[in-house]
Amino acid sequence: MNYIVTEETMHKDVKKILITHLEIVEKCQELGALINQDYQDEPPLLVALLKGSVPFLAELIKNLKIDVEYDFMDVSSYEGTESIGDVKILKDLDQSIRGRKILLVEDIVDTGNTIKEVTRLLANKGASEVKVVSLLDKPSRRVVDLKIDYLGFEIPNEFVIGFGLDYNEKYRNLPYVAVLKEEIYDEVL
Ligand code: IMP
Repeated sequence: MNYIVTEETMHKDVKKILITHLEIVEKCQELGALINQDYQDEPPLLVALLKGSVPFLAELIKNLKIDVEYDFMDVSSYEGTESIGDVKILKDLDQSIRGRKILLVEDIVDTGNTIKEVTRLLANKGASEVKVVSLLDKPSRRVVDLKIDYLGFEIPNEFVIGFGLDYNEKYRNLPYVAVLKEEIYDEVL
């Protein structure tokens, strides 16, 4: 299904759509094909980071023909230490990952701290390999060195919402990735 969104039907708080629903659907087909090929011998456990990666996970797995399983983690930055990059585990995995290949599913890689720390955590839990698939990448904001093995779209340094991404927990349900109108930020400043 494709959601055709026009100027008239897009959310009233949206300034512009950066990535349409159709573009996301097609990109997930491409990423799925690559993942199917790379994991033919040993299917990975997909580990999706709550809450933002849920719509991306749901779209991506429609295109996976290998026998994947998925699990969720919820992490947050320790307050005041964002630049150091420590993360606090709010919800841990339900199963042991010792010896397993992990494919981390993320909505957006920004500074890279979250992915870097979670990768380290999963390696400490005994994962045999940790790779990353991310819908979006904001490389201009990166503060740590990391590799995104499967990437949807590179975007400029703008705060985006939709397709799982939120602003104050809103807009996660939008079927596209968009930039908010400036006045929406002004309202809470
Ligand atoms: P990082 O640790 O700086 O890479 O941050 C990653 C997390 O920050 C993502 O999983 C998002 O939850 C959040 N984030 C970063 N940029 C944006 C954005 O433009 N919109 C919404 N959330 C964002």
